[in-house]
Amino acid sequence: MAEIAILGYGTVGSGVAEVLDKNRLSIDKKAAQPIRIKYILDKRAFPGDPRARLLTREYTRILNDDDISVVVECMGGAEPAYTYLKQALLRGKSVVTSNKELVAKHGAELLSIAREKNINFLFEASVGGGIPIIRPLNLSLTSDEITDLAGILNGTTNYILTEMTRESLATGAASFDEILAAAQRQGYAEQNPADDIEGRDAARKLAILLSLATGRQIDFESISTEGISRIECADILAADKLGYCVKLLAAAKINHEKNEVAARVSPVLVPKAHPLAMVNDVFNAIFVKGEIIDELMFYGRGAGKLPTAGAVVADVVDAVKHLRYNIIHFWSNDPVNVAPADAYPARRMFRARGRRELIASRINTEAFVSGAAPGELAFIAGPLTDADALALGKELVKSDTGCSGPTGCSGPNCVNILSQIRIFE
Ligand code: HSE
Repeated sequence: MAEIAILGYGTVGSGVAEVLDKNRLSIDKKAAQPIRIKYILDKRAFPGDPRARLLTREYTRILNDDDISVVVECMGGAEPAYTYLKQALLRGKSVVTSNKELVAKHGAELLSIAREKNINFLFEASVGGGIPIIRPLNLSLTSDEITDLAGILNGTTNYILTEMTRESLATGAASFDEILAAAQRQGYAEQNPADDIEGRDAARKLAILLSLATGRQIDFESISTEGISRIECADILAADKLGYCVKLLAAAKINHEKNEVAARVSPVLVPKAHPLAMVNDVFNAIFVKGEIIDELMFYGRGAGKLPTAGAVVADVVDAVKHLRYNIIHFWSNDPVNVAPADAYPARRMFRARGRRELIASRINTEAFVSGAAPGELAFIAGPLTDADALALGKELVKSDTGCSGPTGCSGPNCVNILSQIRIFE
């Protein structure tokens, strides 16, 4: 029998216990031995919970118990998770975690300890919730060189953008706060939802995927990251008219010869016919391009209790099947160069207030549509780098007629840029 401890009895931790109970018979058969939870670490009390007798507040009980062969971490956050898991590995206990912050920051180090100790550090649930993506990158695609990764990697923001799109198209308006509250109620959002909204959660997940694709450590903070807080219903409506939908995309290009990646997390317009445009609600997708395989897409529920717990439990089964055998992961501590985010120019949608003829006389644009409000319009320009887009914005707003009105002047000879969003192609 393999005895395990779960650290954290929140959404994912309680889901892990639930999945182990629900599918106990088949899981035990697949692991070739029974898997039983001996401890659940949590500071909170859970009166009346059927697993209350397993609860402990003392991590040392778990650490000092030689019967525990696998520690399952579902607490989230860098500390104390990092300290606990490093101690567990050093004591010869395999570790399974869903904690993307921890894996992005300390993955290389924890993998190397697991390798030295001939045990395992497994983290399938850290990216894409229930989607198998870590194992495919580490096993199925080892014959290839991955050149591009593009993912909808955050369920909360995809849920918010999907609901904003539905409500904007139906009524012309949407309440960001109400939609975020619904995502929180369903257990999708982080304890600090700013990590979701500002794109940091997606950047951590992209860093993990890039580390596995390059075999090197990527500092997620070096990835240019912008979230969805500036996206307005008017952007969504204008994009829809031009044939696009708005998605928070984590995208990267890898140059293996130069040991370089160009990566960014930002809202982008995805053409409605692209497979990533069909990824709605809490679903995630990871679009992978390799020199040999060409294009692949992985799709499924990116957040939520049971899909994430299912991925954790599958790792537990793998850890139990390989108790004294290290599954090698291609991820060292050597760094990779991170190219400026602006290395790849892209076409952009601009939303502006101003006369169409005036704008057309100042730029070479391919498409105009009228915007959500009277006097607003949207158009596509580029390909442009961020610097080009800034310069174009300045060129557009300059007044030929000597208007000295304030920025935001609605005079007939003035143009105001309201927003601009890159197009993913
Ligand atoms: N907050 C995360 C998300 C949870 O919304 O994707 C899954 O990692």
